[in-house]
Amino acid sequence: MTEKIELQTVNEIIPENINFETILNINTKSVNELTHGFHKYPGKFIPQIPNWAINKYLKKTKKATVLDPFCGSGTTLVESNVLGYNAIGIDIDPLSVLISQVKTTKINIDKLNEIIDWLKKNLLDTKINSVFLPKINTLNHWFNTDAIHKLGKIRFIINEIPKVFPDNQDIHNLIITCFSSIIRRVSNADNQSQKTYVSHTLNKNPEEVYSLFFSQLNYYKQSINDFNVIVDSAKSKVLNNSSSESLNNLILNQDIDLAITSPPYIKAIDYVYNQMAELFWIGDLFGIETQEKQNSFKQNYIGNKQINKAEYSKFTPQKFKTEIEILDINLKTIIETDKKNGLKHAYVTWKYFAEMDKHFKEMSNILKKDASYIMVVGDSAVSGVNIYTATILCKIAEKYSFKLANKWGYKIKNRYMRFDRKGRGGIINIDWVLEFKKVSE
Ligand SMILES: C[S@@+](CC[C@H](N)C(=O)[O-])C[C@H]1O[C@@H](n2cnc3c(N)ncnc32)[C@H](O)[C@@H]1O
Repeated sequence: MTEKIELQTVNEIIPENINFETILNINTKSVNELTHGFHKYPGKFIPQIPNWAINKYLKKTKKATVLDPFCGSGTTLVESNVLGYNAIGIDIDPLSVLISQVKTTKINIDKLNEIIDWLKKNLLDTKINSVFLPKINTLNHWFNTDAIHKLGKIRFIINEIPKVFPDNQDIHNLIITCFSSIIRRVSNADNQSQKTYVSHTLNKNPEEVYSLFFSQLNYYKQSINDFNVIVDSAKSKVLNNSSSESLNNLILNQDIDLAITSPPYIKAIDYVYNQMAELFWIGDLFGIETQEKQNSFKQNYIGNKQINKAEYSKFTPQKFKTEIEILDINLKTIIETDKKNGLKHAYVTWKYFAEMDKHFKEMSNILKKDASYIMVVGDSAVSGVNIYTATILCKIAEKYSFKLANKWGYKIKNRYMRFDRKGRGGIINIDWVLEFKKVSE
């Protein structure tokens, strides 16, 4: 039986109420306003989504706090602050935490100008020959000699900022983020792909480092100035949970009025690998500057597919039976259809939902009764088997007192904003928006 899908086109503004399972075609040009355009980040959602959710669910609340437990590049946090609400963001990824902080921290523009002038003077000073050098053997594969020298000099001089301008950590963070945001463009790696790789078929002319860095700094300055003007006293707090601390311990009894997030997808994005070039140059700040350290660090990301045989070899759908029939059938089908990698993929899928189960349980502890939790998630294909992630997550959420109040979808247009899953098992390119309400304490 084919169900009739309702399609609706909207321009810029998402209507407050949308019919169940309607798919929106959202036409929008404004996805990079204010600080939203800082730094590329895999799997971003469009700012219109948190904007819609905050307007719909907090319109009567004067003082409220919004939580994004998988905050990525901070889209929810920026929109919360712009609309006058405090926000808390949590993410395992240290670069995501840095970007989110920078996007939501007001900056003293006079001081920023002073530090940029100082940076320029030092960069052009030919007597300064010291450079920062990433500790990797393959640097020449990723960057040409000119880029290596100039990036090394910029990073060396940025490292001096805290000594020359103490107590300006926020400006230091903004400049480091800006530096990181030019790295892919000045590298030999393909700009269009989310994955970090040097294409042998597409010739790339890396951009000149200094001119790109200063034009980006200018753009950052203007955007943060716009943010300064628009945002009144609302603030964001961004927390890194690299040690997989429970949400309760991280949030510490703070009242959360609304949660908005897009969790990772199964097997979809390798955040660390996608940011490898950037991490060569700034990963030392987080202790993940080499590929070896990055590989061990990424084990804790939800949806991560780098799992060793010892971990998945004991997996069987009988032994790891879940309470969700459709998931159990999916896991069995993956093993039956994919003779080569089925066992591993089934385990990765099982583990993803086990981790999301733990997530809903923790969210249920921190959200007040009647609070809403808005989750944006896409279905996936694993080993050619369609996994109805949104439907399965709804069943898990139900176990922890989350009632599905509405479900609608929107077409994914920009593969940088969300991962393009077209052609991977035939599931259409849609993100589902699940509107949950916490129904009991
Ligand atoms: C789809 S992205 C969120 C993107 C975000 N909505 C934005 O607009 O930038 C999912 C995020 O989940 C994070 N993540 C993965 N595993 C996590 C974990 N165990 N705890 C917290 N965050 C995690 C990833 O680092 C990634 O930033």
